[in-house]
Amino acid sequence: MIDFIEKLPKAELHLHIEGTFEPELMFEIAKRNQIEIPFASVKELKKAYQFNCLQDFLDIYYQGAQVLVYEQDFYDLTYAYLKKCAAQNVRHTEIMFDPQTHTERGVSFETVINGISLACQVAKEELEVSSILIMSYLRHLSEEKAFETLQQSIPFKDKITAIGLDSSEKGNPPSKFKNVFEASIKAGFIPLAHAGEEGDADYIWEALDILKVARIDHGNNALQDENLIREIIKRDIALTVCPLSNTALQVVDDLKNHPLKKMMELGLKITVNSDDPAYFGGQVNQNYIAIQKALQLSKKDIYELVKNSFQYSLLDNETKQKYLKELETYVATC
Ligand code: ADE
Ligand code: ZN
Repeated sequence: MIDFIEKLPKAELHLHIEGTFEPELMFEIAKRNQIEIPFASVKELKKAYQFNCLQDFLDIYYQGAQVLVYEQDFYDLTYAYLKKCAAQNVRHTEIMFDPQTHTERGVSFETVINGISLACQVAKEELEVSSILIMSYLRHLSEEKAFETLQQSIPFKDKITAIGLDSSEKGNPPSKFKNVFEASIKAGFIPLAHAGEEGDADYIWEALDILKVARIDHGNNALQDENLIREIIKRDIALTVCPLSNTALQVVDDLKNHPLKKMMELGLKITVNSDDPAYFGGQVNQNYIAIQKALQLSKKDIYELVKNSFQYSLLDNETKQKYLKELETYVATC
């Protein structure tokens, strides 16, 4: 089963580039930029990765990102992740980035997007991994700040496919960003949002009805509301589920109690993703392996999850079909 999972061609649809920042690379970049990290060593830093909730994690995640200053830093961060994609047979990835984490401390939008997108371009050539960029608004900041970010992104529109909404969920409902999502859609971006990770089902309703999202990040709490489940299925909207993130952030107490299988049985379209792999103990393949073991998923279940990863990607139909064919060819040999 592990071999089957590892070799499957797959896509990752929920991944924060700042969450791929491995401590070793963080220390290396901090040193060359002469920025202090408030931890004595990689080991000390890793010891701090114990979270009781989303906010515990976000505090340390934003702190780690502070050492990223130059285009080269964003390039190195992104390329390191894309190399891991290639090693895991991730053929396509949809990468979220948080511009405000950087622009709020004086790094220009241009520096961030140029470093990330150059790494994506090079990886397409050298590693044969394709990628799409999702610009995420930080929901703990104001809608006005999100509008500023939208303005900054317009000259780089050709490099960005979608917008997302992440950071502290509770107390920051999707409706807070109604106007900036409307404007972003008008500007040509596809709307996505985190909803129902810690927030209740009503946040998912708002993401659907007010933000008009094409996909929901997490969505675990959809299970609180049968009408919502029916609506998500009716609209054919996928949920990007992140098993190891859910246990690391205490959204789920134990992988054995993870709702993923139940979600699949109800007819929801589910994908498996790593969210912030440097912080949560596993890349996307480890997420598949861990959830397979915990829930005794069959090869057929794994195949369905992987198929969804291409089917519900933001790729054009022709490229989707190309990847789906690759998947069929692999499965036929198993
Ligand atoms: N930013 C990075 N990871 C996140 C998560 N799991 N939820 C909300 N915001 C995030
Ligand atoms: Zn996330």
